[in-house]
Amino acid sequence: MPADAGPSEDAGHRTGGAGPATPDTLVLGIETSCDETAAACVRGGSDVLSSVVSSQVELHARYGGVVPEIASRAHNELIIPVTARAMVEAGVDGTRIDAVAATTGPGLIGALLVGVSAAKALALTWDVPFVSVNHLEAHLYAAFLEEPELSLPLVVLLVSGGHTMLVHMEDHGRYRLLGQTLDDAAGEAFDKVARFLGLGYPGGPAIDSESLHGDPEAIRFPRALMDDGLDFSFSGLKTSVVNHVRAHPDVSTADVAASFQAAVVDVLVTKARRAAREVGARALAIGGGVAANSLLREQFLTACTEDGLQAFLPTRAMCTDNAAMIASAGWYRLRDHGPSPLDTGADPNLRLSTFR
Ligand code: KG4
Ligand code: ZN
Repeated sequence: MPADAGPSEDAGHRTGGAGPATPDTLVLGIETSCDETAAACVRGGSDVLSSVVSSQVELHARYGGVVPEIASRAHNELIIPVTARAMVEAGVDGTRIDAVAATTGPGLIGALLVGVSAAKALALTWDVPFVSVNHLEAHLYAAFLEEPELSLPLVVLLVSGGHTMLVHMEDHGRYRLLGQTLDDAAGEAFDKVARFLGLGYPGGPAIDSESLHGDPEAIRFPRALMDDGLDFSFSGLKTSVVNHVRAHPDVSTADVAASFQAAVVDVLVTKARRAAREVGARALAIGGGVAANSLLREQFLTACTEDGLQAFLPTRAMCTDNAAMIASAGWYRLRDHGPSPLDTGADPNLRLSTFR
């Protein structure tokens, strides 16, 4: 970290300044990595004063998935009003913000650039630190937002539209990747299967609610790599669903949805328990959009109880993309590593272990 990366100290009202983050440090978080424009004000890493999320779901629904160019344009239109609303809801103006954190990756490059540029402009204007945040790291921090007493180390199952991974969070900023998907992410499988079944977009919530009317044991879909290590594979499952429906055109869509969901959840929960056992973890957390899934939440809690593990299950709003988790991860980053240089770029392929 360059020594000159911090702000000048001429603003006497700053509590964060160039020094380490304190419990009073108020971070404005900005998230634009995919199809949610979000801003939030969080004090001390866990006190959420406001969290505004503007979803672009309706804009992308007719295309059956996120269209990057449409996402960038929508972020451009929404970034100022969403940020302004987060500040109004928190009851603060620019003089009270101590640092601005933004997702710099991974995500869609055009979408990321909107949030990163806005965050840097605000940090410059207010003369406060800019903090680069890894979106995946922020999902790990979502658990801390609602459980500040959460103690490390712990194993986190991170399941989103772009990633499926098991992470050993040994300390703040110290992660060990225990396993990950070899092909599709779990959320991607939900989205693809929902599209094939004509359930619409986004697929996860659609399959979740359709499954309520179906029998999860109606069809025994394959559980790939079930007895083998901590990696995942979901592309074969998606193909099995397609093959089954083509071979049985009259099959109940609800039964297919419920059986598919049961297969995904079975694999996720089995591997998460195995990971906790292998590293001797006493706590297990879950994060990412798929962690909003009803069956996964239920089975995750049951597994933790059976294995004597402390379970951390963020609320649904904290599982899907939001900026409170960005502000929280930004606070820890500022505390442990200081501000990020203003020439830090957006990186669509940013990895979890990368510190910037
Ligand atoms: O974390 P997230 O909001 O964005 C990414 O960073 O990817 O995750 C979005 C993913 C989508 O694939 C969506 O279908 C899935 O999370 N998802 C769900 C549910 N809610 C969202 N998957 C299963 N069940 C749900 N209830
Ligand atoms: Zn996400």
